[in-house]
Amino acid sequence: MSKLSGKVAVVTGGGSGIGEAISKLFAAEGAVVHIVDLNVEGANQVAETIVATGGQAKVHAANVTDQQAIVQIANEIGKIDVLVNNAGIAHVGNLENCAADDFDRVLNVNVKGAYNTLFAVVPRMKANGGGAILNLASIAAWVGIADRFAYSTSKGAIFAMTLSVARDYLNDNIRCNSISPARVHTPFVDGFIAKNYPGKESEMFKKLSQSQPIGRMAKPEEIAKLALFLCSDDAGFITGNDYPIDGGFIKLNN
Ligand SMILES: NC(=O)c1ccc[n+]([C@@H]2O[C@H](COP(=O)([O-])OP(=O)(O)OC[C@H]3O[C@@H](n4cnc5c(N)ncnc54)[C@H](O)[C@@H]3O)[C@@H](O)[C@H]2O)c1
Repeated sequence: MSKLSGKVAVVTGGGSGIGEAISKLFAAEGAVVHIVDLNVEGANQVAETIVATGGQAKVHAANVTDQQAIVQIANEIGKIDVLVNNAGIAHVGNLENCAADDFDRVLNVNVKGAYNTLFAVVPRMKANGGGAILNLASIAAWVGIADRFAYSTSKGAIFAMTLSVARDYLNDNIRCNSISPARVHTPFVDGFIAKNYPGKESEMFKKLSQSQPIGRMAKPEEIAKLALFLCSDDAGFITGNDYPIDGGFIKLNN
Protein backbone atom coordinates (compact mmCIF):
# COMPACT_ATOMS: atom_id res chain seq x y z
CA MET A 1 0.00 0.00 0.00
CA SER A 2 1.41 3.41 -0.96
CA LYS A 3 1.85 5.93 1.83
CA LEU A 4 -0.51 8.56 0.42
CA SER A 5 -2.99 6.54 -1.60
CA GLY A 6 -6.41 8.13 -1.68
CA LYS A 7 -5.03 11.47 -0.42
CA VAL A 8 -5.21 14.85 -2.08
CA ALA A 9 -2.14 17.04 -1.56
CA VAL A 10 -1.55 20.72 -2.25
CA VAL A 11 2.09 21.74 -2.71
CA THR A 12 2.89 25.42 -3.12
CA GLY A 13 5.98 26.18 -5.16
CA GLY A 14 5.86 22.65 -6.58
CA GLY A 15 7.31 23.79 -9.91
CA SER A 16 10.94 23.77 -8.80
CA GLY A 17 13.48 22.48 -6.30
CA ILE A 18 12.21 21.03 -3.02
CA GLY A 19 8.54 21.47 -3.98
CA GLU A 20 9.17 19.62 -7.25
CA ALA A 21 10.78 16.69 -5.42
CA ILE A 22 7.92 16.63 -2.88
CA SER A 23 5.28 16.73 -5.63
CA LYS A 24 6.92 13.86 -7.51
CA LEU A 25 7.38 11.68 -4.43
CA PHE A 26 3.88 12.32 -3.08
CA ALA A 27 2.39 11.44 -6.48
CA ALA A 28 4.53 8.29 -6.66
CA GLU A 29 3.10 7.40 -3.23
CA GLY A 30 -0.45 7.63 -4.55
CA ALA A 31 -1.51 11.22 -3.82
CA VAL A 32 -3.35 13.41 -6.29
CA VAL A 33 -1.01 16.41 -6.26
CA HIS A 34 -2.13 19.99 -6.84
CA ILE A 35 0.79 22.26 -7.60
CA VAL A 36 0.23 25.94 -6.85
CA ASP A 37 2.97 28.03 -8.42
CA LEU A 38 3.70 31.31 -10.17
CA ASN A 39 6.09 29.49 -12.43
CA VAL A 40 3.60 27.83 -14.74
CA GLU A 41 6.21 26.44 -17.09
CA GLY A 42 8.10 24.68 -14.29
CA ALA A 43 4.88 23.47 -12.67
CA ASN A 44 3.59 22.09 -15.98
CA GLN A 45 6.84 20.21 -16.54
CA VAL A 46 6.61 18.64 -13.08
CA ALA A 47 2.95 17.70 -13.61
CA GLU A 48 3.69 16.23 -17.06
CA THR A 49 6.47 14.08 -15.59
CA ILE A 50 4.14 12.89 -12.84
CA VAL A 51 1.38 11.99 -15.29
CA ALA A 52 3.85 10.32 -17.68
CA THR A 53 4.96 8.06 -14.84
CA GLY A 54 1.40 7.04 -13.95
CA GLY A 55 0.65 9.61 -11.24
CA GLN A 56 -1.99 12.31 -10.93
CA ALA A 57 -1.19 16.03 -10.84
CA LYS A 58 -2.82 19.33 -11.65
CA VAL A 59 -1.32 22.80 -11.94
CA HIS A 60 -2.89 25.95 -10.51
CA ALA A 61 -1.15 29.11 -11.66
CA ALA A 62 -1.29 31.52 -8.74
CA ASN A 63 0.67 33.78 -6.48
CA VAL A 64 0.45 32.65 -2.86
CA THR A 65 0.25 36.30 -1.81
CA ASP A 66 -3.19 36.55 -3.44
CA GLN A 67 -5.62 35.26 -0.81
CA GLN A 68 -8.68 35.38 -3.04
CA ALA A 69 -6.98 33.32 -5.74
CA ILE A 70 -5.79 30.75 -3.20
CA VAL A 71 -9.25 30.43 -1.62
CA GLN A 72 -10.75 29.95 -5.08
CA ILE A 73 -8.24 27.19 -5.88
CA ALA A 74 -8.97 25.41 -2.58
CA ASN A 75 -12.69 25.60 -3.35
CA GLU A 76 -12.12 24.12 -6.80
CA ILE A 77 -10.07 21.25 -5.37
CA GLY A 78 -12.59 20.43 -2.64
CA LYS A 79 -11.28 17.73 -0.30
CA ILE A 80 -7.66 18.38 0.75
CA ASP A 81 -5.78 15.97 3.03
CA VAL A 82 -2.24 17.30 2.88
CA LEU A 83 -0.82 20.83 2.55
CA VAL A 84 2.84 21.63 2.01
CA ASN A 85 3.63 25.32 2.37
CA ASN A 86 6.82 25.36 0.38
CA ALA A 87 6.76 28.47 -1.87
CA GLY A 88 9.40 30.87 -0.65
CA ILE A 89 11.94 33.44 -1.75
CA ALA A 90 15.40 34.41 -0.53
CA HIS A 91 16.99 37.69 0.43
CA VAL A 92 20.61 38.30 1.28
CA GLY A 93 21.47 41.24 3.50
CA ASN A 94 21.71 42.40 7.09
CA LEU A 95 19.29 44.84 8.72
CA GLU A 96 20.95 47.89 7.15
CA ASN A 97 20.96 46.34 3.67
CA CYS A 98 17.31 45.40 3.91
CA ALA A 99 15.10 48.11 2.40
CA ALA A 100 11.47 48.26 3.47
CA ASP A 101 10.44 46.94 0.04
CA ASP A 102 12.74 43.91 0.39
CA PHE A 103 11.37 43.20 3.85
CA ASP A 104 7.76 43.46 2.65
CA ARG A 105 8.42 41.25 -0.38
CA VAL A 106 10.04 38.45 1.65
CA LEU A 107 7.44 38.56 4.45
CA ASN A 108 4.61 38.77 1.93
CA VAL A 109 5.62 35.57 0.12
CA ASN A 110 7.18 33.53 2.92
CA VAL A 111 4.81 34.42 5.76
CA LYS A 112 1.62 35.87 4.34
CA GLY A 113 1.68 33.29 1.54
CA ALA A 114 1.68 30.49 4.13
CA TYR A 115 -1.09 32.23 6.08
CA ASN A 116 -3.16 32.52 2.88
CA THR A 117 -2.94 28.82 2.07
CA LEU A 118 -3.64 27.84 5.67
CA PHE A 119 -6.62 30.22 5.67
CA ALA A 120 -7.94 28.56 2.51
CA VAL A 121 -7.19 24.93 3.37
CA VAL A 122 -7.64 24.46 7.14
CA PRO A 123 -11.45 24.93 7.10
CA ARG A 124 -11.65 22.26 4.39
CA MET A 125 -9.50 19.86 6.43
CA LYS A 126 -11.69 20.53 9.46
CA ALA A 127 -14.82 19.78 7.47
CA ASN A 128 -13.27 16.58 6.12
CA GLY A 129 -12.21 15.21 9.48
CA GLY A 130 -8.52 16.13 9.52
CA GLY A 131 -5.29 16.53 7.61
CA ALA A 132 -1.54 16.99 7.71
CA ILE A 133 0.28 20.26 7.15
CA LEU A 134 3.98 20.76 6.58
CA ASN A 135 5.58 24.20 6.51
CA LEU A 136 9.05 24.89 5.12
CA ALA A 137 11.09 26.71 7.75
CA SER A 138 14.90 26.76 7.57
CA ILE A 139 18.02 26.50 9.70
CA ALA A 140 17.88 30.31 9.46
CA ALA A 141 15.03 30.16 11.99
CA TRP A 142 17.29 28.50 14.57
CA VAL A 143 20.81 29.86 14.29
CA GLY A 144 22.19 33.28 13.46
CA ILE A 145 23.24 33.16 9.81
CA ALA A 146 25.12 36.17 8.46
CA ASP A 147 23.22 38.44 6.10
CA ARG A 148 19.83 36.80 6.21
CA PHE A 149 17.86 39.40 8.19
CA ALA A 150 14.52 39.33 6.36
CA TYR A 151 14.72 35.66 5.42
CA SER A 152 15.52 34.52 8.98
CA THR A 153 12.69 36.67 10.31
CA SER A 154 10.27 35.05 7.88
CA LYS A 155 11.35 31.52 8.75
CA GLY A 156 11.15 32.17 12.51
CA ALA A 157 7.57 33.29 11.89
CA ILE A 158 6.88 30.06 10.02
CA PHE A 159 7.74 28.01 13.08
CA ALA A 160 5.57 30.21 15.35
CA MET A 161 2.74 29.84 12.82
CA THR A 162 3.25 26.07 12.86
CA LEU A 163 2.84 25.95 16.65
CA SER A 164 -0.23 28.16 16.57
CA VAL A 165 -2.03 26.06 13.95
CA ALA A 166 -0.98 22.77 15.57
CA ARG A 167 -2.39 23.98 18.91
CA ASP A 168 -5.66 25.42 17.60
CA TYR A 169 -6.60 22.40 15.49
CA LEU A 170 -5.56 19.55 17.79
CA ASN A 171 -9.18 18.54 18.24
CA ASP A 172 -9.83 18.65 14.51
CA ASN A 173 -7.35 15.87 13.79
CA ILE A 174 -5.09 18.28 11.91
CA ARG A 175 -1.37 17.83 12.46
CA CYS A 176 0.99 20.70 11.66
CA ASN A 177 4.79 20.51 11.61
CA SER A 178 7.70 22.27 9.98
CA ILE A 179 11.03 21.18 8.62
CA SER A 180 14.25 23.16 8.63
CA PRO A 181 16.64 22.27 5.86
CA ALA A 182 20.18 23.57 5.66
CA ARG A 183 21.38 24.27 2.11
CA VAL A 184 19.66 22.18 -0.49
CA HIS A 185 20.96 22.25 -4.04
CA THR A 186 18.05 23.83 -5.92
CA PRO A 187 17.58 26.74 -8.36
CA PHE A 188 16.84 28.84 -5.22
CA VAL A 189 20.47 28.43 -4.07
CA ASP A 190 21.95 28.77 -7.57
CA GLY A 191 19.81 31.90 -8.10
CA PHE A 192 20.92 33.70 -4.99
CA ILE A 193 24.58 32.78 -5.52
CA ALA A 194 24.41 34.13 -9.08
CA LYS A 195 22.65 37.31 -7.96
CA ASN A 196 24.67 38.08 -4.87
CA TYR A 197 28.14 36.72 -5.65
CA PRO A 198 28.68 37.31 -9.40
CA GLY A 199 32.04 35.99 -10.59
CA LYS A 200 32.49 34.00 -7.39
CA GLU A 201 29.84 31.37 -8.04
CA SER A 202 31.96 28.23 -7.73
CA GLU A 203 33.84 29.57 -4.69
CA MET A 204 30.52 30.37 -2.95
CA PHE A 205 29.00 27.03 -3.94
CA LYS A 206 31.97 25.25 -2.32
CA LYS A 207 31.77 27.43 0.78
CA LEU A 208 28.05 26.85 1.19
CA SER A 209 28.51 23.09 0.65
CA GLN A 210 31.18 22.92 3.32
CA SER A 211 29.10 24.86 5.82
CA GLN A 212 27.20 21.60 6.40
CA PRO A 213 29.47 19.49 8.63
CA ILE A 214 28.50 16.51 6.46
CA GLY A 215 30.37 18.30 3.64
CA ARG A 216 27.70 18.85 1.00
CA MET A 217 24.30 20.34 0.32
CA ALA A 218 21.19 18.19 0.58
CA LYS A 219 19.45 16.83 -2.47
CA PRO A 220 15.80 17.92 -2.88
CA GLU A 221 14.82 14.23 -2.90
CA GLU A 222 16.25 13.82 0.61
CA ILE A 223 14.00 16.64 1.86
CA ALA A 224 11.01 15.07 0.11
CA LYS A 225 11.48 11.81 2.03
CA LEU A 226 11.17 13.59 5.39
CA ALA A 227 8.18 15.53 4.06
CA LEU A 228 6.53 12.27 3.01
CA PHE A 229 6.99 10.73 6.45
CA LEU A 230 5.60 13.78 8.27
CA CYS A 231 2.59 14.05 5.94
CA SER A 232 1.77 10.34 6.05
CA ASP A 233 -0.17 8.42 8.67
CA ASP A 234 3.17 6.97 9.87
CA ALA A 235 3.67 10.30 11.65
CA GLY A 236 0.26 10.21 13.33
CA PHE A 237 1.72 11.02 16.77
CA ILE A 238 3.77 13.99 15.54
CA THR A 239 2.46 17.54 15.66
CA GLY A 240 3.63 21.01 16.69
CA ASN A 241 7.28 20.38 16.02
CA ASP A 242 10.15 21.29 13.74
CA TYR A 243 12.54 18.81 12.19
CA PRO A 244 15.97 20.02 11.11
CA ILE A 245 17.35 18.20 8.06
CA ASP A 246 20.70 19.87 7.98
CA GLY A 247 23.77 17.64 7.63
CA GLY A 248 24.70 18.60 11.19
CA PHE A 249 24.51 22.38 10.59
CA ILE A 250 22.72 23.34 13.80
CA LYS A 251 24.35 21.02 16.34
CA LEU A 252 27.75 20.05 14.88
CA ASN A 253 29.16 23.35 13.57
CA ASN A 254 31.59 23.88 16.43
N1 LIG B 1 17.17 25.50 -1.06
C1 LIG B 1 17.55 25.67 0.20
O1 LIG B 1 18.75 25.63 0.51
C2 LIG B 1 16.53 25.85 1.29
C3 LIG B 1 16.93 25.70 2.63
C4 LIG B 1 15.99 25.88 3.65
C5 LIG B 1 14.69 26.18 3.32
N2 LIG B 1 14.34 26.33 2.02
C6 LIG B 1 12.94 26.67 1.75
O2 LIG B 1 12.38 25.68 0.92
C7 LIG B 1 11.38 26.26 0.08
C8 LIG B 1 11.64 25.89 -1.37
O3 LIG B 1 12.92 26.31 -1.73
P1 LIG B 1 13.62 25.83 -3.08
O4 LIG B 1 15.08 25.89 -2.80
O5 LIG B 1 13.03 24.60 -3.60
O6 LIG B 1 13.23 27.08 -4.03
P2 LIG B 1 13.02 27.23 -5.62
O7 LIG B 1 13.28 28.66 -5.94
O8 LIG B 1 13.80 26.17 -6.35
O9 LIG B 1 11.47 26.93 -5.79
C9 LIG B 1 10.52 27.76 -5.20
C10 LIG B 1 9.23 27.65 -5.98
O10 LIG B 1 8.29 28.52 -5.35
C11 LIG B 1 7.64 29.28 -6.34
N3 LIG B 1 7.20 30.56 -5.79
C12 LIG B 1 8.00 31.57 -5.33
N4 LIG B 1 7.23 32.60 -4.96
C13 LIG B 1 5.94 32.24 -5.18
C14 LIG B 1 4.71 32.89 -4.99
N5 LIG B 1 4.65 34.14 -4.53
N6 LIG B 1 3.57 32.23 -5.32
C15 LIG B 1 3.62 30.98 -5.83
N7 LIG B 1 4.78 30.31 -6.02
C16 LIG B 1 5.91 30.94 -5.71
C17 LIG B 1 8.68 29.48 -7.43
O11 LIG B 1 8.08 29.81 -8.68
C18 LIG B 1 9.37 28.13 -7.44
O12 LIG B 1 8.75 27.23 -8.33
C19 LIG B 1 11.42 27.77 0.36
O13 LIG B 1 10.42 28.08 1.28
C20 LIG B 1 12.79 27.98 0.97
O14 LIG B 1 12.82 29.09 1.83
C21 LIG B 1 15.22 26.17 0.98
